[in-house]
Amino acid sequence: MEKEALSILDQRTHSSYEIPVHNGTIRAMDLRQLKTGPGDFGLMTYDPAFMNTASCHSAITFIDGDKGILRYRGYPIEQLAEKCTFLEVAYLLLFGELPTEPQLKDWVGQITRHTMLHETTKKFLEGFRYDAHPMGMLVSTVAALSTVYPEARNVHDPEVRQLQIMRLIGKMPTIAAYTYRHSLGFPYVYPDNDLSYTENFLNMLWRMAEPRYTANPILARALDILFILHADHEQNCSANVMRSVGSSHADPFLSTAGAAAALSGPLHGGANEEVLKMLDEIGSKDKVPAYIEQVKAGHGKLMGFGHRIYKNYDPRASIIKWAADKVFEVTGRNPKLDIALELERIALEDDYFIKRKLYPNVDFYSGIMYQAMGFKPEMFTVLFAIPRTAGWLAQWQEMLEDPEQKIARPRQVYTGHEVRDLVPLEKRAAPTTA
Ligand code: SDX
Repeated sequence: MEKEALSILDQRTHSSYEIPVHNGTIRAMDLRQLKTGPGDFGLMTYDPAFMNTASCHSAITFIDGDKGILRYRGYPIEQLAEKCTFLEVAYLLLFGELPTEPQLKDWVGQITRHTMLHETTKKFLEGFRYDAHPMGMLVSTVAALSTVYPEARNVHDPEVRQLQIMRLIGKMPTIAAYTYRHSLGFPYVYPDNDLSYTENFLNMLWRMAEPRYTANPILARALDILFILHADHEQNCSANVMRSVGSSHADPFLSTAGAAAALSGPLHGGANEEVLKMLDEIGSKDKVPAYIEQVKAGHGKLMGFGHRIYKNYDPRASIIKWAADKVFEVTGRNPKLDIALELERIALEDDYFIKRKLYPNVDFYSGIMYQAMGFKPEMFTVLFAIPRTAGWLAQWQEMLEDPEQKIARPRQVYTGHEVRDLVPLEKRAAPTTA
């Protein structure tokens, strides 16, 4: 049986070391013993953007990027998307097992009772300009909830944690809908507790003068499937922020606001909005080849393509494509789909993209579907943040319960000036340009 260890010869000192290997990793702290002398701090790893660094043990989500596999708590995403509701999957992510029927009924009932926002929070939203970006409003409002529920700071009390988790999952759709209604100057629509999670979200978005809103069941189900697909994705940029902010024992509202801020970036969750802008810029199917040549020449990226982990087709993109077809049966086909399909067809045959293993990711088709459903592009990342809140909270809770975790505080390689004496203000000359 081969030994699970590395033998390292430090050629600087000719000393040898044996470093144990666990789960395909070595502990970075085991490298600190490699020193060139008693005053040496010891060896560190240097890994910008954590390209090859595991920051935690996690049992929540498994991704095999080469095979295009995504599983939540061991269940393939394809089965969950086909057979479950989003709240059922949120339960799975948070508690590790799929709920029984009574458990699900109780869970849905609890979440439903936490969909309302304090009236003061509605007034907080009124402070935004009419044209404020919904993600800016969502991030700020989620953070403001920490002032409404100060007990949330007791992050080590499981019951307190559970209550804040239900509040966040319950209130995200309400906040999202209110940001949309604010941008239109329309009155807010209160939650209707007789509706399902996604039906109620559509109610708070679209209801106008009718006494009760009836969601199209195909659109509500399609949104539920999209919420399942977006619920978690292991240690992505925003999950890393959730864990990092949470590791200082900040409350879950402030941690979630930080994670949502990370998600808003165009390289992360903001990509779905950028895809629509890209398709608008291309304009028509016949202009796709010229656009691809521009990208290959280094002018911009193909938004909705590429992934740090998936070096194969993002399994979520395939399911979204299927869901989009169902939506188009109701809404009519989004003409931008033809441009997207042509972009995908050409890119998947082009060596530039093949060599870099760039495939459509979760964001490539979601925006086209959302637009057909009536959402404006500024709302797309908000639609990502709603379900991802369940994943962020699952990652946050797992971090708090992990005895190996502590406040996140990476090291650095200092490349600045050596020590130097301060020059009095009157004697400082402008730096000479080299
Ligand atoms: C999400 O992490 C997650 O799990 C994220 C997510 C989740 O569920 O949480 O899956 C959600 O964020 C999906 C990704 C959405 N972002 C986009 O669609 C934006 C476009 N994609 C890229 O910016 C990029 O692909 C990233 C950011 C997604 C991944 O970037 P990496 O892993 O850091 O790869 P890289 O930037 O080092 O690129 C490697 C090469 C480079 O070329 P060279 O310098 O080697 O010549 O591929 C090129 C890049 O220029 N490249 C692209 C490209 N993505 C990478 N070229 C053109 N178009 C692209 N989209």
